[in-house]
Amino acid sequence: MTHVENELYDVARRAMKGAFAPYSKFKVGAALRTEKGEIYSGCNVEISSYGLTMCAERVALFKAVSEQKMAFDTLAIVTELERFCPPCGACRQVLADFAPELKIILLNSTGESRETSMAALFPQAFDRHFLESK
Ligand code: THU
Repeated sequence: MTHVENELYDVARRAMKGAFAPYSKFKVGAALRTEKGEIYSGCNVEISSYGLTMCAERVALFKAVSEQKMAFDTLAIVTELERFCPPCGACRQVLADFAPELKIILLNSTGESRETSMAALFPQAFDRHFLESK
């Protein structure tokens, strides 16, 4: 792993520890890097009305966009599983609006990583640019 990836890994792991997941007990951490090198963390936040739960990836993205950051290059996602855990469908759609070319690093519980991308996980996406072309 590169230095940048290592830093993302640390931020994502720290975020995962802070996840609020009392119902599923499934903790997820995310670290989203802007093209300028700022890193935004996210963890899942579960709500008693379960469908209102927010995933770690979207928390990280919304934190960044709420601070007017719009260009991203890498997202790290970590869980406590040995399997590599990719972002859910809802998160893929949300990420497509802001980061269709995102590199995604999946991290497992033993510190191994696997690289993928939005291009691979969510091709031919509908995104916000369709609304601008009317
Ligand atoms: N979760 C995430 O945070 N990201 C994903 O991409 C998959 C699922 C969370 C939502 C919920 O709190 C828990 O994991 C179980 O679905």
